[in-house]
Amino acid sequence: MSFSRAIKIAPSILAADFANFGAECRAVEDQGADWVHVDVMDGHFVPNITFGPATCAAIRPHIRGVMDVHLMIAPVDMYIEGFAKAGADIITAHIEAGPHIHRTLQAIRASGAKAGLAINPGTGLDGVENLLDMIDLVCVMTVNPGFGGQNFIDMTDKVQRLRALIGARPIHIEIDGGMTPQTAPLMARAGADVLVAGSAVFKGGSVANPAPYGENIRAIRAAAEAATGVAV
Ligand code: DX5
Ligand code: ZN
Repeated sequence: MSFSRAIKIAPSILAADFANFGAECRAVEDQGADWVHVDVMDGHFVPNITFGPATCAAIRPHIRGVMDVHLMIAPVDMYIEGFAKAGADIITAHIEAGPHIHRTLQAIRASGAKAGLAINPGTGLDGVENLLDMIDLVCVMTVNPGFGGQNFIDMTDKVQRLRALIGARPIHIEIDGGMTPQTAPLMARAGADVLVAGSAVFKGGSVANPAPYGENIRAIRAAAEAATGVAV
């Protein structure tokens, strides 16, 4: 995984057919996805339950590129090894998930995965500053985590300040929640490079009819790249 600030589209399989994850991952990658975003929810940190390391291990062989695992669970530490062994390239934990995020990030890097730090809409950047040397990605939530298909909460100011804080460090800024061709440009302009999109990617398509996935991915990418000044 070489570092680049080019726009990356990361479809969230939360919006895929849960009975067909393998084929859905192959379909979105074939249709132009850069990363595959995997939302792990525990029914405790967030009010919804999805799946755990066994499902991640099962879908891993169906993903050619980056498997980006977003843990919405608490506690986190005892499960890190399991997600690393399942083949996660990036493991992202929430700053709100416990009192010892520093230890959690150390454990993620020690597992061999890249370390991501997620921050909810109500969380500021104060705590992030002390962690910059131990993270590879900050995931700025633009919805309150737990469900797909929610309305975008504008975090432009936070993303701009985060981008300035990061400076030349090789840390991705990922945006998660409510990304569409209308909202993605705001975040790309503010400094984001990874755009997670669930409903806006999977809408209108299926494994049997994957072309809409490609159209949706291209629409989000084109809007975001236009906002950053990259020729499209
Ligand atoms: C929310 C998840 C998101 C979500 C995005 O808790 O972390 O990844 O699936 O879904 P959309 O794009 O539908 O908002
Ligand atoms: Zn997510």
